Amino acid sequence: MQKLSIQGGNKLNGEVRISGAKNAALPIMCASLLSAEDLQLSNLPDMHDVATMAKLLQQMGVAVSNSPKASTFNASKVDKLEAPYEMVKTMRAAILVLGPLLTRFGEARVSLPGGCAIGSRPVDLHIKGLQAMGAEVHIEHGYIHATAKRLQGAKICFDVVSVTGTENLMMAAALADGVTTLENAAREPEVVDLANCLIAMGAKISGAGSDTITIQGVQALHGAEYRVMPDRIESGTFLVAAAAAGGRITLTDTRADILDSVLDKLREAGATIEVSGDRITLEMHQRPRAVNLRTAPYPAFPTDMQAQFMALNTIADGTAMVVETIFENRFMHVQELLRLGAQIDIEGNTAIVKGCAQLEGATIMATDLRASACLVIAGLVAQGETIVDRIYHLDRGYEHIEAKLSALGAQIRRIK
Ligand code: EPZ
Repeated sequence: MQKLSIQGGNKLNGEVRISGAKNAALPIMCASLLSAEDLQLSNLPDMHDVATMAKLLQQMGVAVSNSPKASTFNASKVDKLEAPYEMVKTMRAAILVLGPLLTRFGEARVSLPGGCAIGSRPVDLHIKGLQAMGAEVHIEHGYIHATAKRLQGAKICFDVVSVTGTENLMMAAALADGVTTLENAAREPEVVDLANCLIAMGAKISGAGSDTITIQGVQALHGAEYRVMPDRIESGTFLVAAAAAGGRITLTDTRADILDSVLDKLREAGATIEVSGDRITLEMHQRPRAVNLRTAPYPAFPTDMQAQFMALNTIADGTAMVVETIFENRFMHVQELLRLGAQIDIEGNTAIVKGCAQLEGATIMATDLRASACLVIAGLVAQGETIVDRIYHLDRGYEHIEAKLSALGAQIRRIK
């Protein structure tokens, strides 16, 4: 089991290049199943979940070829319409092959993802939407088995906003017969990135980025070349790290226009932020002020940034209220922060964080992807050495994070 050792107390200074967005790359890779022609993707991040998704597609028969600048996916010889439990249990996003397989091949068998650390995370809305489009769906032996001669366009309204639910049904609708309307659709930038890639492949989609998306099904999609958008959560994670540790960092190859709620909170905490093109510079030379947070679907404050900001609040001046409205159990990082001396009380989906002057380094354990990022940030500001265990969670969703942090001046290294 690999761990990270962090000596706290260093400020962060310098430039860091932001990688492609994990949560755009994963659905876009699945979009390759919708065509028999090459989908060439660039700016794919080098991280575990992307490698897992590529393996999943390859075991279905998708040809994957990698070059330093791009990866090409070709689904002209798909011969296995199944996502097995062994792969789905390690990466829930595998559910995103369901819509594409069903709409292109008329059948799909995808393991039910099961729960994860942050919540039960059902996929009932994915299934309900496909049934509305005419699919026969049976749950048997832990698998979703779906069949459909040809999916029919339908009007679908989501009970709750679902990012991958919206993505799965948008891909299914791309080759369906007729028009599909998705109401109460997710507005996340990663949904827009997927829509833009599908449009480049010949799909007829309008409204992506709004809560109503309309898809006019077509007979077939052709190949395309597409560059995946930058990762807004990686961007936010580095900005919060610098706001907590102090210093002056510049993110490059990023986008500020999709980070408004995060940048607003960083300014509220006392950081100075400048935006210029694809660069964001953050400067912080004093103790952060506590900031209240309430997570909600985009464009409101992202749940994937809640844990990182909680690390900042543990050493901030003041008391913060953090309300998690998306997932029922996304406070797993709190117990670990308490081991560093943080003062946090949880009442239901609300955490009250009383800022203290100093955290003390200790050995702590990552439980999920964004919780592990939170613990790394806490380690950067804690006095002495912090050991973060089970960092395979971190490696799933961040590209070379300790190399990037070291380059900014952090004292951080991986230990076996
Ligand atoms: C996506 O997960 C992201 N993952 C998550 O990022 C992110 O936290 C989440 O959206 C919310 O923004 C990817 O894009 C691969 P949801 P997803 O469906 O799509 C309920 C990370 O750290 N729901 O938007 O699985 C669900 O229980 C990961 O990168 C149903 O009830 O999340 C939750 O309460 C973590 N039924 C809420 O909706 C369904 O069928 C939002 O979930 C689907 C969802």
